[in-house]
Amino acid sequence: MKALVKERAEPGLWLTDVPEPQIGPGDVLIKVLRTGICGTDLHIRSWDGWARQAIRTPLVIGHEFVGEVVETGRDVTDIAVGDRVSGEGHLVCGTCRNCLAGRRHLCRATVGLGVGRDGAFAEYVALPASNVWVHRVPVGLDIAAIFDPFGNAVHTALSFPLVGEDVLITGAGPIGLMAAAVARHAGARNVVVTDVSEERLELARKIGVSLALDVSRRSIADGQRELGLREGFDVGLEMSGSPVAMRDMIANMTHGGKIAMLGLPAQEFPVDWARVVTSMITIKGVYGREMFETWYAMSVLLERDLDLAPVITGRYPYRDHEAAFADAASGRGGKIILDWAA
Ligand SMILES: NC(=O)c1ccc[n+]([C@@H]2O[C@H](COP(=O)([O-])OP(=O)(O)OC[C@H]3O[C@@H](n4cnc5c(N)ncnc54)[C@H](O)[C@@H]3O)[C@@H](O)[C@H]2O)c1
Ligand SMILES: [Zn+2]
Ligand SMILES: [Zn+2]
Repeated sequence: MKALVKERAEPGLWLTDVPEPQIGPGDVLIKVLRTGICGTDLHIRSWDGWARQAIRTPLVIGHEFVGEVVETGRDVTDIAVGDRVSGEGHLVCGTCRNCLAGRRHLCRATVGLGVGRDGAFAEYVALPASNVWVHRVPVGLDIAAIFDPFGNAVHTALSFPLVGEDVLITGAGPIGLMAAAVARHAGARNVVVTDVSEERLELARKIGVSLALDVSRRSIADGQRELGLREGFDVGLEMSGSPVAMRDMIANMTHGGKIAMLGLPAQEFPVDWARVVTSMITIKGVYGREMFETWYAMSVLLERDLDLAPVITGRYPYRDHEAAFADAASGRGGKIILDWAA
């Protein structure tokens, strides 16, 4: 089968023929229809410091996908050939304290699809049935392809109650944009999204946020004044990984404010901890999705007309992966989809 492979320990990706994956008794074989390009895939392609220490070549990359089940192992009972599915990309150990307690998202030995084992940028992918999400609520293929990052957005956005609250989201990348859509849908009063890219802020406006703020030109405090906020934001969702954004967020929270932090900073940075303490701010780190509570929430949000269409800004046949990756790496648009059926 065709697959997008990190063949060698150097920048680049190679579209090559590899053997189809074999499945065990508890696994499912999926014909991949569409995939989403993630920041992780860009890191692996450019072969940066993180990728060099995290990746062993050769590796089929990719973890955001939708496909159709073509084969099930003999022990698989509730998934059938023909089901439309996406996959939870964190494969858990099943034996640590958190796994045994049913808190699989807190597993201490998670292996990443397309990072620690062969992934989904291929014509077929194999997964344990316990990692497969069947789309029982009808959902378009592009949106189904990005259930993984959509799950990051939902997990983060629903970390704290949002009804009637003023919400600050730093970073209008695909995940920040989806979190903004969720926050609006979930009943926030104001949703303010910041970025330094005018194109991405324009996408945030399409989602219908209260204010899309270019922080290279105006401060978050300016934004607060424009909206008539007097005491700061109730909930913050950090979705940029930028130290400046995190510091600005802390400085603009109300007393007792809650911050859910998904953005992954590249290195340590100083934080005004005295402000965190005296303002009694809660900061929660968020990694991945809750299995499968987040997946359930995603499906039912879409069933009740959550609109993510503005987040998807490009779709390419998999053979045009170079152009697709260049588009994704430009940092100007939203999610870029690779079509494996085209
Ligand atoms: N914790 C997890 O499980 C998890 C999973 C996926 C991604 N991530 C991280 O979440 C973040 C969002 O993911 P994404 O794919 O949307 O990333 P992205 O890189 O596409 O988007 C980040 C955005 O932040 C903007 N930004 C930069 N500096 C800023 C500032 N000072 N203020 C406001 N915005 C600023 C950038 O212009 C960019 O548009 C990234 O840091 C990513 O590494 C975490
Ligand atoms: Zn991803
Ligand atoms: Zn575990």
